[in-house]
Amino acid sequence: MSRAVIIGTGKYLPDNIMTNDDLSNIVDTSDEWISTRTGIRQRRISTGMSTSDLAYEAGLRALNKSGLRPEDIDLIICATITPDYFMPSCACIIQDRLGAVNAAAFDLTAACTGMIYGMVTAEQFIKSGMYRNALVIGAETLSKVLDWEDRSTCVLFGDGAGAVVMAKSEGDGGILTSNLEADGSKYDYLTCEAVPLENPYVDSGITHKVPRIRMLGQEVFKYAVRTITDNINTLLSRAQISKEEIKFIISHQANQRIIEQASKFIKIPIERFYMNLDLYGNTSAASIGIALDELVSGNEIKKGDKIILVGFGGGMTSGSILLEWS
Ligand code: UT7
Repeated sequence: MSRAVIIGTGKYLPDNIMTNDDLSNIVDTSDEWISTRTGIRQRRISTGMSTSDLAYEAGLRALNKSGLRPEDIDLIICATITPDYFMPSCACIIQDRLGAVNAAAFDLTAACTGMIYGMVTAEQFIKSGMYRNALVIGAETLSKVLDWEDRSTCVLFGDGAGAVVMAKSEGDGGILTSNLEADGSKYDYLTCEAVPLENPYVDSGITHKVPRIRMLGQEVFKYAVRTITDNINTLLSRAQISKEEIKFIISHQANQRIIEQASKFIKIPIERFYMNLDLYGNTSAASIGIALDELVSGNEIKKGDKIILVGFGGGMTSGSILLEWS
């Protein structure tokens, strides 16, 4: 049976580090509050690079590690909620900069679940036989849509990009099973508006037109804990394997307490949940790709290891992938 396997990973973070102490000079907050309530100690904030710049750098690194040439890539998907333009897509900009002249390219929006939605989408093209090689990137410059006067949101997020190259394989391993979910009835838990309707017939009356992230933090927190545990249980049951067989779980990195509660509810030791949110905060669609690249680069994943990737975010959306490393 043909499967989609990961043959390269990459990440890119802007150089500029903003610490919790730096933030306490901007809003009424403290290192103590942020680190105890979230586990976040610092984040990277772009001082000029756009989402497609970060995505290109992460994609280039994943491509180099895959050993493929740019022209071998058949598909580029960029998952983002902070694109450079409504049109063109970041994926088309990346295609041009990489010289991936044979690739179809589009952006995908599933907020913090974007990397999972992107990888599962690419997997379908690969398994159907339409494409052999796909580059999937999660990239964000969330700093441009944060309300820097709202301490309940601006302390949580950061900028960055993570990427994987996926390829068709007839061997063992790769994506064993996956799950995608959405619950639009909870759309208002996490929002970032686009431009208002304004034309010769409509005066929106809105003067402040820069989109900003708004969040019902505690509702998102509860949704996150529940969907992490539900997604893991769904994958284990579909693949007919036990939780003891899972080497690592890479959850979307939003809040250390979310991951700790999920670990407690599902009774999988916290040591098996990879965490780097102390360094980068919540990078939305980028977080899972960044974490996977760190585990792979640190030689922590061996052939045959089973890993779960699980995401949750605006929409509300959630999703997960069970991988066997090959
Ligand atoms: O990718 C998905 C995106 N989002 C998430 O995953 C976020 C999920 N939610 C969370 O992580 C948590 O709900 C937060 C970290 C956002 C908030 O933590 P919390 O423990 O739910 O705090 P809270 O909203 O109940 O606020 C407690 C207090 C409030 O003060 P009062 O009313 O008790 O006096 C807030 O005003 O903490 C205050 N507060 C802060 N204080 C200092 C809120 N933000 C801050 C802050 N610094 N940055």
